[in-house]
Amino acid sequence: MHPRDRLDRPIRDLRISVTDRCNFRCSYCMPAEVYGRDYAFLPRSEVLSFEEIVRLARLFAELGVEKLRITGGEPTVRHGLPALVRALASVEGTRDLAMTTNGSTLVRLARPLAEAGLRRVSVSLDALDDATFGRMSGVHVPVARILEGIAAARAAGLVPLKINTVVRRGMNEDAIIPLARWARDEGYIVRFVEFMDVGTTNGWRTEDVVPADEILARVDAVLPLEPIPPDYPGEVADRYRYRDGSGELGVIASVTRPFCGACTRARLSADGRLYLCLFASAGLDLKTPLRAGASDADLRDLVAAAWTARDDRYSERRSEATAAEGRVEMFAIGG
Ligand code: GTP
Ligand code: 5AD
Ligand code: SF4
Ligand code: SF4
Repeated sequence: MHPRDRLDRPIRDLRISVTDRCNFRCSYCMPAEVYGRDYAFLPRSEVLSFEEIVRLARLFAELGVEKLRITGGEPTVRHGLPALVRALASVEGTRDLAMTTNGSTLVRLARPLAEAGLRRVSVSLDALDDATFGRMSGVHVPVARILEGIAAARAAGLVPLKINTVVRRGMNEDAIIPLARWARDEGYIVRFVEFMDVGTTNGWRTEDVVPADEILARVDAVLPLEPIPPDYPGEVADRYRYRDGSGELGVIASVTRPFCGACTRARLSADGRLYLCLFASAGLDLKTPLRAGASDADLRDLVAAAWTARDDRYSERRSEATAAEGRVEMFAIGG
């Protein structure tokens, strides 16, 4: 049984958050002023075990999920991650297993993760100079360490390798061209992400969004571009290639070009809640029934019923009215 939601969208992708913790404090996700030393992250007992995650992933695959993506917080701060990857890689019916990471641990982990069956990674990187990178990421990690991690991922075969760059007005606009040039030279696909109003703590304002059209115009002025079709239906990024054939880049324009119509993504939080949208205010608790002994059929029915009732399309509805709605924090569901 492959359920369709109220807008006739199937469930195809599951983004699995394995921890709500992160070793970075990006201004647009977990600002350091809010998430300080005494912030209470999930206690260990509330976090799904690897066995619990894999059991749920199997059930989602039976409902039509073909792509799995491991997220966080920062997924690699969870101990023993390669063991989870190994188990997820054997979930029947899935054909893609990827991870979104800040890249800070890839020098050490790229190879073990690839050997365990991870196919590819997306690495977040918001600037190539230490000063801007430090302002965006909220930590004093040298950019060189992230670049070494990215190189290690490529060497381990985690390709095609994508770089996600959140662009925030007045903070890292000057990083756009250097990042585009660098990614093109290295053969990576950079995707410039419009700053989004996810969560409730990042101080989002429309004025801080650099629209995709502006990002593209800036790049096109120095490295001429032309649009190319999506890689798969419902891809979040709009793709472009350099006219001289030297590579491609993308823009993820959730604010100025919403893509809810083809959104087939479900999100599982580290504490076992199912979120039907990045901007949802609440998730369906799967952990309680899971731990109370629910059967596979019971759990599958719960998920199928939630998906069938789904009518989320936040980015298309975004307005002054939606600004007041409660929203889950980005680090709780991994973007
Ligand atoms: P691919 O399979 O490589 O296309 O991965 P992806 O682009 O779906 O995943 P990734 O984690 O790299 O996401 C890139 C950016 O897109 C992140 O900033 C996400 O938060 C954002 N994003 C992903 N899915 C959605 C979505 O459903 N809605 C919105 N608004 N943003 C999304
Ligand atoms: N707006 C846009 N992208 C965001 N990300 C995190 N917070 C935001 C935001 N407010 C991105 C990160 C990473 C992915 C997990 O989500 O850059 O690539
Ligand atoms: Fe951590 Fe990623 Fe959020 Fe930055 S965007 S604080 S790296 S979870
Ligand atoms: Fe999907 Fe919600 Fe993002 Fe729209 S805003 S694309 S429904 S996750």
